[in-house]
Amino acid sequence: MDFYHEDNITIFTHPLIQHKISMLRDKNTGTNEFRKLVEEIAMLEGFEALSDLPLEDVEVETPIETCMTPMVARRKLAIVPILRAGLGMVSGVLALVPTAKVGHIGLYRDEETHEPHEYYCKLPNPIEERTIVVTDPMLATGGSAVDAITMIKNHGGRKIKFMCIIAAPEGLERLRTEHPDVQIYVGHLDRQLNEDAYICPGLGDAGDRIFGTK
Ligand code: PRP
Ligand code: URA
Repeated sequence: MDFYHEDNITIFTHPLIQHKISMLRDKNTGTNEFRKLVEEIAMLEGFEALSDLPLEDVEVETPIETCMTPMVARRKLAIVPILRAGLGMVSGVLALVPTAKVGHIGLYRDEETHEPHEYYCKLPNPIEERTIVVTDPMLATGGSAVDAITMIKNHGGRKIKFMCIIAAPEGLERLRTEHPDVQIYVGHLDRQLNEDAYICPGLGDAGDRIFGTK
């Protein structure tokens, strides 16, 4: 088994995911490599997170005969990154399901209060029937994830999954408590938050490391 699963939480144990997360943590990993690793981890996590995607039988002509064969049902998936850092995971999930629609939610954390502030929201419409995968590499206090998912629910989203790379216990508990219906996928569960609400040992500021800002 390559993950630990309890209730609605899946924590990955696959050696490739753990190896790539360790590379992300290294402060000497540069922007280019960091971006590629985030994309690859998102693809590996997405493979499991999408294991219940609905299928529909379609007619296909093989060199031998015509048959009915299953394909991923169309118009069934939306990916919603939390800006900015969640953007880095989108290409990994799109590599698995290129036809997915992509929405965006813009949130930034106030440096003093650590509370999230909304600055953008554009979601596929209609969204009710879609599986929605919310991406953000970091689940720290959980404030951003909780608010983003509340916004999606207010727009009619129902079947929601949240995929992150590193989580703090505090954020995981908050997300599970406030949105118990959401499936949560975690690459690695870290030790704790520090006084600035950064994850320890973590990887630093994910947005800055993906986009090369400071
Ligand atoms: C980071 C991260 C999450 C959030 C997690 O974003 O990408 O969205 O912090 O923290 P929380 O769980 O305590 O809410 P940030 O606000 O730094 O914005 P950025 O991605 O634009 O850098
Ligand atoms: N956001 C980040 O990018 N990193 C953290 O450790 C916490 C929040």
